[in-house]
Amino acid sequence: MSNKGDSNKRTHTCGQARLGDVDETITLNGWIESIRDHGGLTFIDLRDRYGLTQVVLDPELGYGGVLDQLRVEFVLAVTGTVRARPEGMRNPKLDTGDVELAATGVEILNPSEVPPFEIAESKEEPGEDIRLKYRYLDLRRRRIQKNMIFRSRVTRIIREVLEEHDFLDLETPFLTRSTPEGARDFLVPSRVHTGRFYALPQSPQLFKQLFMIAGFDRYYQIVRCMRDEDLRADRQPEFTQLDMELAFVDEDDIRELIDRLLSRLFEELLGVKIELPIQQMEYQEAMARYGSDRPDTRFELFIHDVSEEAGSTDFQVFSKAVESGGVVRGICVPGGASLSRKDIDGCESVAKSFGARGLAWMKLEAEGAKGPIAKFLGEEGETALRKAFGAGEGDLLLMVADKESVAATSLGEVRLHLGEKLELIPEGRYDLLWVTDFPLLDWNEDEGRYHACHHPFTSPREEDLELLEEKPGEVKARAYDIILNGIELGGGSIRIHSEDVQSRVFTAIDMSEEEAREKFGFLLDALSFGAPPHGGIALGLDRLVMLLLGVPSIRDVIPFPKTAKGGCVMTEAPGGVSREQLEELFLELNIPEESSDESSEESTE
Ligand code: AMO
Ligand code: AMP
Repeated sequence: MSNKGDSNKRTHTCGQARLGDVDETITLNGWIESIRDHGGLTFIDLRDRYGLTQVVLDPELGYGGVLDQLRVEFVLAVTGTVRARPEGMRNPKLDTGDVELAATGVEILNPSEVPPFEIAESKEEPGEDIRLKYRYLDLRRRRIQKNMIFRSRVTRIIREVLEEHDFLDLETPFLTRSTPEGARDFLVPSRVHTGRFYALPQSPQLFKQLFMIAGFDRYYQIVRCMRDEDLRADRQPEFTQLDMELAFVDEDDIRELIDRLLSRLFEELLGVKIELPIQQMEYQEAMARYGSDRPDTRFELFIHDVSEEAGSTDFQVFSKAVESGGVVRGICVPGGASLSRKDIDGCESVAKSFGARGLAWMKLEAEGAKGPIAKFLGEEGETALRKAFGAGEGDLLLMVADKESVAATSLGEVRLHLGEKLELIPEGRYDLLWVTDFPLLDWNEDEGRYHACHHPFTSPREEDLELLEEKPGEVKARAYDIILNGIELGGGSIRIHSEDVQSRVFTAIDMSEEEAREKFGFLLDALSFGAPPHGGIALGLDRLVMLLLGVPSIRDVIPFPKTAKGGCVMTEAPGGVSREQLEELFLELNIPEESSDESSEESTE
């Protein structure tokens, strides 16, 4: 594998040659995707990120004896003449499919071990564990490579649009103090400041507000955020936000900007036209009709409140729930009377796993209502319910009696379950929606105090300020979330810019003055030096790319993702550390037997 200077450097990429290049002598560099022998000739598909080119090797030319050594994934330099493929041998699926390269010289730039899974497009997807262990090979696969290239186009368009709108790309620190974004912090011990810890940022929230106070008025950053939370299909412990903040704006300005940005992305990347302005829905309506603050509006199956009708029947589960201040809500499934008992039980277990005590059901059949609760309702009750649901023969009614939040959430999940099961969700549809008018605070039963629904820097609505001390639960926030197909793409708010209001909100969430000063003294100080009105938003970039591509896993759009347990199978992070490293930090591990895992054992070597 001698280095022959420039002679073997590529003149073209593997996705470039066309009929117009016929008779030209070119050099390609790339990986062997496949090797086939046909009638005395050897055919190689040579791959790089731009595409594949078919290379034809004629054994009579010798090629310095390398021909027998070639295997898949070897890196080659091939020089040859472009020629048209014979009629009938053309491959319309390949950009380079009209031509091939008749090789005159071949050099092996580097051999390769046999890869642990096939890199060429194969019918069977390799297991995710092996893919993540050899992620650099997985990233060579066309499907994953396309996702990464797409992601890069997404960020390029974002930067273009935001630069057009005068945004500045400014950095914020990673070694910082805890920002209360609702998840657990990842901590980093300080060696110099013995016994003290940095927290990795859950978002640049406070720093971007400080940029506004500093006068930068339009900030954005494509930035990593770290949250130690339980992972789900659309969550990662480190993820990327498109983070933005603007001064001298209101909610409409921010929504308009995001509308424009999203419509550019959809149009340029997918050729899909988004109707502007993106629709808005109040939180209250989202919870009542969809049982979710991120409603999937691609299908109907709305939730109805039937407290009045159900509460006055003899079915005690209903009447007692309403008497004690709860609600009865339900879903009418058109044609659902044909669902099996097993299907209905499936719905009930979904409802139960979201806190409902049961799921009452009734089939409206020709001979009358059927189901365990039918006999309790009487004709009057049945008619009233039918009417309240707008239900007819052949429909199925599913109902939950409980306190409002449980009824809403559990039915919201049943709704999603049915949407999928009954295939009500149209393919290829993109439903964008703003959810607005969130409550500012929500009561945390366990801790016996209010929490900020978004974060404690979110501004209450001006007209609700007077409720902050008396009826904190009724205060609405100047917050908004953007939802795509039932997934929260982003969220933001207009911020508090007065030191006094900020202190009152800290008090409302039971934070003492000392604690507020200790944690956020710098922010309170900054607010006292002429903070402009400001607000912003952050979009989850990984989720955005995932939804635009229509892939089911967030891991398919992140170059080096973590597993569901937050580990990296390739580097084996998180890893152990030496005793010396711990001693330097004055740290000692004290891990109970049952919590120990391999990596923590390692660190006590
Ligand atoms: P929020 O916490 O709503 O707001 O986060 C904004 C968006 O980030 C995405 N996201 C995640 N994506 C992948 N994995 C995760 N673990 C994860 N957590 C959040 C979501 C979410 O909508 N500072 C505020 C924004 C603001 O007020 O301007 C914030 O971080 O798509
Ligand atoms: P039970 O009397 O507990 O056997 O319940 C009779 C039916 O009512 C079953 O189908 C239960 O799933 C349903 N059910 C029980 N509790 C509730 C509730 N809180 N809301 C709705 N349905 C319920």
